[in-house]
Amino acid sequence: MNLTLASRFSRRFGLSTPIALAPMAQASGGALAAVCAQAGALGLVGGGYGELDWTQREYALAEKDAGHTGRIGCGFIVWKLDEDASALDWVLERRPRAVFLSFGDPRPYARRIAAAGAELMVQVQRMEQVPMALEAGASVLIAQGSEAGGHGMNALNGRATMAFVPELADRLAQHSPDTLLLAAGGIADGRTLAAARVLGADGAVMGSRLWATRESLAPSGAKAQAVEVDGDATARSSVFDILRRKNWPQPYDFRAIRNTLHRQWEGRLAELRAAPGQGRADYDAGVKAGDFSRAHATVGEATGLICDLPGAADLIARISSQAAQILER
Ligand SMILES: Cc1cc2nc3c(=O)[nH]c(=O)nc-3n(C[C@H](O)[C@H](O)[C@H](O)COP(=O)(O)O)c2cc1C
Repeated sequence: MNLTLASRFSRRFGLSTPIALAPMAQASGGALAAVCAQAGALGLVGGGYGELDWTQREYALAEKDAGHTGRIGCGFIVWKLDEDASALDWVLERRPRAVFLSFGDPRPYARRIAAAGAELMVQVQRMEQVPMALEAGASVLIAQGSEAGGHGMNALNGRATMAFVPELADRLAQHSPDTLLLAAGGIADGRTLAAARVLGADGAVMGSRLWATRESLAPSGAKAQAVEVDGDATARSSVFDILRRKNWPQPYDFRAIRNTLHRQWEGRLAELRAAPGQGRADYDAGVKAGDFSRAHATVGEATGLICDLPGAADLIARISSQAAQILER
């Protein structure tokens, strides 16, 4: 097989490496997105829950430093857009390179995204979501495996990156060959990026690994905890969504470090839902004190591959050169 790191994705988006920064809510701010874009990747600001002030501030920052690269876009959580899409509409006026949508039906937003000249990227967790994403006209699909940090499919419904990516690559090759595919979930070094290419993806969306960088807006105590633990340390559940008063719909839940407060509630979800007062008080106190035995650190299984907190540009260069070497061999 003659496979290079350069791909249809890097060529179409004018990238020097086929990496997209995951649009991580509260972590992928303007500084991180700008550094990723300047380093040759796609810099997606984490518009997340669609908070207008936050999105305006961080997107403007990314645009100021890296708008000239043409590699800045923004991501949103779709079921929140269904409540209020003003942040999306504001971003579309800035003519982003791409809009990345996850966790809901992208079709109601497709026409205005296309009208703004942006590429539509849709993250899916199961094969059954693919027809809807293609109907929306997505030019890039992202196959998110359940190793991923943050939100994704719960244990009953989730797919692992290793089998999901090649299955979706085959489906697209047969039914929609011009649609690009990125892998997400567990991609955090040269080996895993090269593996994504071998599995048939045109590149990768990297969350956890770029979360653990100098420029990410994640709290420094959370980043330090991610460096310390190994990959056994995370778990998926609804515990932190309940504690954080986030009203996530089924079948999504959340992967983060399984800290002391998580362990206290993980076997008693119904009880926590029915009477969340004490758990929320403990959680809020943990956030206030910067105590990550109670506050959450949002990172995926890739935390086991995270041993440092470098600048994002150095990290992207390091991962890309390792992956290129592996693929050349
Ligand atoms: C801190 C954090 C926040 C995230 N927030 C979002 C989000 O707001 N919207 C979204 O589509 N995905 C979000 N994700 C998931 C990413 O899009 C991506 O699927 C995931 O990070 C890939 O797996 P990895 O963490 O192993 O790299 C988040 C992930 C992390 C780690």
